[in-house]
Amino acid sequence: MLSQVMQDAINEQINNELLASYTYLSMAVWCEHEQFVGCSHWMRLQSEEERVHAMRLADFLLARNGRVVLQAIGQPEADFESVVQIFEKALAQEQVVTKQIDGLYELAFNEKAFAALVELEWFITEQVEEEKTAREIVHKFHMVKDDSAALLDLDRELSGRVAESGSEAN
Ligand code: FEO
Repeated sequence: MLSQVMQDAINEQINNELLASYTYLSMAVWCEHEQFVGCSHWMRLQSEEERVHAMRLADFLLARNGRVVLQAIGQPEADFESVVQIFEKALAQEQVVTKQIDGLYELAFNEKAFAALVELEWFITEQVEEEKTAREIVHKFHMVKDDSAALLDLDRELSGRVAESGSEAN
């Protein structure tokens, strides 16, 4: 049985992942409104992935006979300046999530919650990948700058993202 402090922390991370999902959805609809359909597609898939992350934590909590207590999700930002800024914010968000996961891992270590440590290792690996992917896309946007043709190419490239197994296709 997980301690109450561990259960509370996992519930908090479920909320963090759902807020990340909501934020990516907000970014997706902004992109689509601005006719960047490839960026929107990428963000929709990312939003779905974050929901899967939340469910993964919820399922873990349930499997350990814990209580999942869903909390209100904060309002995501809705106004953005550009697709470049959106991906910069996505990278910053992933860096925040990495810190949250690290904190959760440290807590699980201190609480001697060994099953939680194993579960959280998946998230640590996932964060390495998510930060790397976001950083690479930001770098490409910085190289493209205001070159319209190159921007369209990059948007087309991002439209090619496929859903990971376990998350729904879009
Ligand atoms: Fe679930 Fe992108 O962190």
